[in-house]
Amino acid sequence: AKLADRLPLIWLHMAECTGCSEAFIRSDAPTVDSLIFDHISLEYHETLMAASGWQAEENLEHAMKKYEGKYILLVEGGVPTAMNGMYLTLGAQAKTGLSLVQEAADKAAAIFSIGTCASFGGIQAAAPNPTGAKGVDKVVNKPVINVPGCPPSAANIVGTLMHFLLFGTLPALDRYSRPKWAYGNRIHDLCERRGHFDAGEFVESFGDDGAKDGWCLYKQGCKGPYTFNNCSTERFNQHVNWPIGAGHGCMGCSEPNFWDTMGPLEKP
Ligand code: SF4
Ligand code: SF4
Ligand code: F3S
Repeated sequence: AKLADRLPLIWLHMAECTGCSEAFIRSDAPTVDSLIFDHISLEYHETLMAASGWQAEENLEHAMKKYEGKYILLVEGGVPTAMNGMYLTLGAQAKTGLSLVQEAADKAAAIFSIGTCASFGGIQAAAPNPTGAKGVDKVVNKPVINVPGCPPSAANIVGTLMHFLLFGTLPALDRYSRPKWAYGNRIHDLCERRGHFDAGEFVESFGDDGAKDGWCLYKQGCKGPYTFNNCSTERFNQHVNWPIGAGHGCMGCSEPNFWDTMGPLEKP
């Protein structure tokens, strides 16, 4: 495809760990190189682009101007709002992350919050939330599609992008603005250990015989019955495995405020 045909993308990093970018680059259908060369034009991404310093800042300004009203804004990370956003400043002009997200959102064709931090504040927003971290939809005046998970799978990130690319529309959303195709089912509904739950076969302690036989992790704090996501079918790292497959319960990472509401993470 010609450059002009590719969808311009601006990816901003707020208060986060970059795990969502790590998940994104493990996309396999399409692979991230095919995605970048054939389908999207990644105009700005602090950890994937070659430019740095003033050149990077210039690229961002240039992209926001050139593709005004046409680019997709993806945000990774919560937005610190306390002290007028001063907990996160960027670049030579020390712009706050808050003002940058607002400016970039103003000129975007669509906005995706990538990960639980950008969707709901994430770990930064855990009580007592000293930086006033918030999800992107709380600081901009436009609709935001949430793609939560800590991190979300590559399939959920790229699938949401590809939907927009192929159809030019946004997918159907649930009450937390999550795409229903990805977040429509409970983890518990499609879990490979569900048969053991139904049979009353539970891991009583990590490393016991039940754990070795893949029994249900509910008594070890699994939050799969309260969590909406498609991890059991999509999995991570090119579909290799997922938390419950690896022997730990679901922590509810795609739900709002899971740090405060789903804990303690290893008790029911
Ligand atoms: Fe990292 Fe999780 Fe936040 Fe993604 S959602 S940036 S993986 S802490
Ligand atoms: Fe449900 Fe968790 Fe048990 Fe799977 S491991 S069946 S999600 S409680
Ligand atoms: Fe998160 Fe639970 Fe999936 S912890 S990665 S929603 S299995």
